Amino acid sequence: MPGVKFLGLAALAASASAQISESKIADVPGLSFRIAIPETQAAPFDVYLSIVAPKTTGWASIAWGGKMIGNPLTIGWANGDKATVSSRWAKSRTAPAAYAGASYTVLPSTTSNSTHWQLDVLCSGCSQWEGGKLDPNSAANFAWAKNTKGPTNTALNTSSISYHDSHGQFTHDLKLAKIPQSAFDALVGGGGAPATSAAAPPSSTAAGGQSTSPRLAPPLGVAVLALTTVLLTGSVRRRI
Ligand code: HEM
Repeated sequence: MPGVKFLGLAALAASASAQISESKIADVPGLSFRIAIPETQAAPFDVYLSIVAPKTTGWASIAWGGKMIGNPLTIGWANGDKATVSSRWAKSRTAPAAYAGASYTVLPSTTSNSTHWQLDVLCSGCSQWEGGKLDPNSAANFAWAKNTKGPTNTALNTSSISYHDSHGQFTHDLKLAKIPQSAFDALVGGGGAPATSAAAPPSSTAAGGQSTSPRLAPPLGVAVLALTTVLLTGSVRRRI
């Protein structure tokens, strides 16, 4: 990834509040993927994923192996004031089929309003699959895709989706995505991160790139002003 720019590190944290790293998709302003994983040295591990997308995004997806074919695809779309997650797998460059190798817990912080939707999930099965796995100690290549048009039946996670109108790849450093196991458990057990970014996406970074921003933990009631920003140019339980 060219042009990696380390902008700065300022830590003024009153607690060890977990931070969630975020990759913004430069091609689609407002679309971002936030990822957190527990402290671990090898796959398989659970993954916290948050997709934040402008309301004009009918569906958005991440491909965990960095390409369309042969790896878990997590697809999200707005559904009323919530969002739906769909687990898929593509064997060819045609509509991907349902994939039972990954299971998802949709977290209560999942939301949708007039401007954005935010899908927050815990995924088991996104870090390792037939033919591939994620290395939690390095930067991983992911792919994304989206279409302005969403599925007709937004409540159904097996709904057909239409062919993407844009797609691309991004690098997300999983080392930066690591948070302590206890913080991870609190994040996914406590219902996810506050949904504030769905209404007002953070604008502290330029379009595109990965940043790590504080997760404000309401129970702690402390202002956490830690900000680590890395700019990369270029780029409930419910099972299905
Ligand atoms: C109805 C659903 C889909 C159809 C019909 C479809 C079809 C295709 C076709 C024909 C291509 C090659 C031409 C091109 O680059 O546009 C392609 C590429 C691609 N698609 Fe899809 N796609 C679908 C869904 C998805 C989803 C859910 C993802 C998830 C991220 C995805 C990710 C990609 C990526 C990253 C590429 C670039 C080449 C590659 O990695 O294989 N697609 N798709």
